[in-house]
Amino acid sequence: MKTLLKGKHLLRTADWSNEELETLFATAEKLKLETTLGIPHDDILRSKSLFMLFFEESTRTRNAFECGMTQLGGHANFLTPKATQVDHGETPKDTVEVLGRMGHGIGIRNTLVGGHEWMQAVAAHSSIPVYNMQCDVWHPTQALADMFTIREKFGKNLSGKKFVISWTSAGNYMRPLSMANSLVAIMTRFGLDVTLAHPEKFDILPEAVEMARENAKKNGTKFEIVHDMDEACNDADIIYAKGWGPIMHVGDDEKAGVEMINQNPGWVVDSRRMALAKESAIYMHCMPADRDIEVTSEVMDGPQSVLYDEAENRLHTIKALMALTMGNVGGQR
Ligand code: CP
Repeated sequence: MKTLLKGKHLLRTADWSNEELETLFATAEKLKLETTLGIPHDDILRSKSLFMLFFEESTRTRNAFECGMTQLGGHANFLTPKATQVDHGETPKDTVEVLGRMGHGIGIRNTLVGGHEWMQAVAAHSSIPVYNMQCDVWHPTQALADMFTIREKFGKNLSGKKFVISWTSAGNYMRPLSMANSLVAIMTRFGLDVTLAHPEKFDILPEAVEMARENAKKNGTKFEIVHDMDEACNDADIIYAKGWGPIMHVGDDEKAGVEMINQNPGWVVDSRRMALAKESAIYMHCMPADRDIEVTSEVMDGPQSVLYDEAENRLHTIKALMALTMGNVGGQR
């Protein structure tokens, strides 16, 4: 168990070793059990402050970090570009140099194209841990909660289990690639055989594909890309499906992206597709899900859906992340 994690950033799960992630999962398990039993752990981050800078909306991420800070004994400051001088162009360096003199951690959500570079610039100058609360290319805290949930449902030995991440026809706006990138990168590390399904021209980040291929080779897992949702769902153990834009082809051209999404209807998780999977298969989505567009309500509210457990696990895994990187653990001061 690797415990010397104080001050460590989380911009991508790839920056944490398997041993470090195992420490995080074990901590999350302990904190979840204590929360369930009503055992307080508010001494872990007592009097500490987390800055949460949101360029966009959030239900799960913001509240997991904010409630997490309260439960660990600290406080979370909710910030937006407009509520700070970021909107007037104050640089990532100047912003974090100042915040680092006052608080103990900073989380950022910036899913605009270039959001990851912005976070990297913050991290490069930060004396306090920087958490990626979702950017244009990665969503590490969601991927950690997803991995944790799968291990709760199937156990730690996931060898031979088929994980499907499929695109869906969610055409009201262009969603970032961050979930698909993050999922193929982490699931191939922890024993799962991964199938990525999407229509032509909805490729994910080449760096994420490369990571998945390398992880599969290194860990004896499989990684494949298919362009047919039925083929992907066949014999699956886990079906995780959500939309993303054809960003590798159109960049941030919203109009062109939405037009391309709407040229590919019918990529939806319904009971017919769930029946293609194993009887014991589970349905996952990071949420918010477009009901009856990405997934039918029958599946979303059905017995195979683990959506709300998955959302709850955002809290426990994020608490573990903050406790390990901001707290006085492992004899660190
Ligand atoms: N899954 C997720 O990140 O949800 P929010 O956008 O509500 O934070």
